[in-house]
This record gives sequence, structure tokens and C-alpha cells, in this order.
Amino acid sequence: MGKFTIPERVIYVCTGSKCSKRGGKELYKNVKAFSKYYGDKNDLEVIQVDCFDRCKYAPVCNIQPDNIWLKEYHEKEVLKVLQIIMQDQPKV
Ligand code: FES
Repeated sequence: MGKFTIPERVIYVCTGSKCSKRGGKELYKNVKAFSKYYGDKNDLEVIQVDCFDRCKYAPVCNIQPDNIWLKEYHEKEVLKVLQIIMQDQPKV
């Protein structure tokens, strides 16, 4: 059994049918790549969810613990937000 780790930050990306049609799957792949590039897996974990029950606003993603909800986003906006908040994160 692997070690149970708690990441500093998590982005939940909806890859349900409505969000996927509007870029959710691509965002998921690109945020995964971003998190690898950024560094340690414990800094940013990327989790896909089936549906936030907010399909009307698809695509939707959520960043915790910042409680940032992005709706009807363009991928570049999400990556920009991540870049900004990850830079503000103090390194121990
Ligand atoms: S499919 Fe993404 S919020 Fe429902």
C-alpha cells in the first residue's frame, strides 16, 4: 500500500459529458502536464470529477483550498490562475 499524502492544492476538473464537449478533457490533460512541470505531486494534485451538477455553466473546475470556481472558462484562464496562485504558495 502506498503512502497517504495530502497535497497543498487540488484542482478538480469536470470531465462529464457537457464539460468535455466544451474543453474539460483537454483542460484535465493540460493541467496534469502543468502539475508535472510545476514540480512535486504534493504541490498540485489533479482530480477529474464526473459532474459538479452545474452543467449549465460548463466547463467547470474548482481549485481547493482556495475555493476558486471557474465556469465557462478558457483553458488559458485556468492555467493563468494556477500559475498565479502557485507562485504565491510559500515553499517550505
Ligand atoms: S458535466 Fe460538468 S458540471 Fe455537469
